[in-house]
Amino acid sequence: MKQIFLVCQNVDCKSRGSEQLMKELERQVAERGLSDVEVRSYICFGACQDGPNIVLYPEKSWYAGVKMEDLKDIMNHLAGGPDVKRLDKIDASLKELIYQLLDTGVF
Ligand code: FES
Repeated sequence: MKQIFLVCQNVDCKSRGSEQLMKELERQVAERGLSDVEVRSYICFGACQDGPNIVLYPEKSWYAGVKMEDLKDIMNHLAGGPDVKRLDKIDASLKELIYQLLDTGVF
């Protein structure tokens, strides 16, 4: 199944480096030739203080407070490696709300 990295590009996440994170994710996905993985910008997940936020969908993994050095573990998880638990900091109810929104196809 196709997986999509949704990378928040709103003000708070951007001020914490989400633009560079998105570029680097795109580079790593291309470098590995992952044609079933897409990297897309997202308007805002409502967890602005915990950014930069990246959601892997439809797998439904939420990575919060992502730093450049975390991308290695995120890519490893994508390839079947362990969850990146240290970045799973978002309240379960907000996660559920956003996942429900994404399930409606709004992104
Ligand atoms: S600015 Fe990124 S979650 Fe709101």
